[in-house]
Amino acid sequence: MRAIILSVLLVSCYALPKHERKFPDDFLFGTATASYQIEGGWNADGKGENIWDRMTHTRPEVIRDLSNGDEAADSYNNYKRDVEMMRELGLDAYRFSLSWARILPNGIANEVNKPGVEFYNNYINEMLKYNITPMVTLYHWDLPQKLQDLGGFTSPLFPEWFEDYARVVFDSFGDRVKHWITFNEPREICYEGYGSTTKAPILNATDVGIYLCAKHLVLGHARAYHAYDKDFRASQGGTCGITISVNWFGPLTDSDEDHLAAEIRRQAEWGLYAEPIFSEEGGFPKELSDKVAQNSKEQGYPRSRMPEFTEDEKEFIRGASDFFGVNHYTAYLISGDEQYKTWYPKPSLYDDADVGSYTPPEWPQSASVWLKQAPNSIYNALTHISEKYNYPLIYITENGWSSHPDSGLEDDDRITYYRAALNNVLDTIEAGVNLKGYMAWSLMDNFEWMEGFLERFGLYHVDFESAEKVRTPRKSAFVYKEIIRSRMIDPNYEPPSRTMWIDEGH
Ligand code: NOJ
Repeated sequence: MRAIILSVLLVSCYALPKHERKFPDDFLFGTATASYQIEGGWNADGKGENIWDRMTHTRPEVIRDLSNGDEAADSYNNYKRDVEMMRELGLDAYRFSLSWARILPNGIANEVNKPGVEFYNNYINEMLKYNITPMVTLYHWDLPQKLQDLGGFTSPLFPEWFEDYARVVFDSFGDRVKHWITFNEPREICYEGYGSTTKAPILNATDVGIYLCAKHLVLGHARAYHAYDKDFRASQGGTCGITISVNWFGPLTDSDEDHLAAEIRRQAEWGLYAEPIFSEEGGFPKELSDKVAQNSKEQGYPRSRMPEFTEDEKEFIRGASDFFGVNHYTAYLISGDEQYKTWYPKPSLYDDADVGSYTPPEWPQSASVWLKQAPNSIYNALTHISEKYNYPLIYITENGWSSHPDSGLEDDDRITYYRAALNNVLDTIEAGVNLKGYMAWSLMDNFEWMEGFLERFGLYHVDFESAEKVRTPRKSAFVYKEIIRSRMIDPNYEPPSRTMWIDEGH
């Protein structure tokens, strides 16, 4: 039956010339940001310290330009301007995250910081005034420092702390927020934060950090999901999901070896978090866990470095998500051939996976080393997870392109990237993927983690030197606005002027 529906869809849509294809009326167009990257106000009005405050203040040299998020774009004070920009763009939705330590200064739910709650109430209410749907992430990397001191995501108590926090959040904002995302990018939280030194808390426990974190993160997600399902959904009527970074990892050649290598790499990148929640079997992905178990034995560990879930835990986690949030930026071609492999610490995730990767030099390069414009990568990634996990509801919760700080407002490379990505979104919808929204990263320039302010992802440029953190639309903002307005991608659209206005009715 699905095959028939698919082929009807394919025939009817491919009949249209590419530039006449339309996005469905109920498709949500938005932009995304995250608390630490935009808010500033790092110690304002009772906010507690988080792991990014601690790391940037005590180890400033780990950030490329020695900067931090103390002020960032100062959205704490500029939130009305943020919403004005959303109105200028004509957004349907806006994805942002809550700073856990702004709401619960110590992370624990014994003490709620009222001004923190009020800030988010103001932000949300301002959006709703103009019909902009808030999509709220509970955790985008800024763990309260107190919880990190107690072990953070490596502690078996983490799932409990997270549920307690989630309950405070649902209770405070759930009357108005209907789209909840528990975690943003588990891989970046667990591998980069605990298994290496590329994100706070730079724990660098390469052998077990990522695996312990993965288990507790997934359990924490499931606890928050079930709390919502049981105690909030009936009265609030919203949905709760998770956002995983799903870049595309395809085989370099058609050999069986490369196909297997690509599968193992996908398990290492996103399968660790997606498989327990979205697969029918539950638990961590098989090929990767077998490899970790085998390596652990050879390395003299008394048990596998990757913990297991009990049968009850598997059952509790399986299916615990109303949608699959996808952050997607790029692609890599994966090979089992030795010549593509590079050195990784032993033991570590990538040593366990033991595969190589390649990106063709002709793929256009952004200002970020890891971000190249890869053909068809949204289609490849989303059709893959759709088939694998039985066509879940998907939102693209991030997609975007970086430029250098001095590259100005005429960002034609970003426009090329967005147009290609959004055409690929249409291909993906036509292929039968249940994709209902797209959030561009980012509404505005912000603190790009270890890269500080040296990589800019904004549709709006931010002048971080100015006291008001002045925001100015780039050319891409005008192009995105026109795509949202017309629900089509006109490859030749040129903004008639560089003045932003707010459309009637928005
Ligand atoms: C994904 C992360 O969620 C976001 O915080 C980051 O800024 C973008 N990728 C760009 O690197």
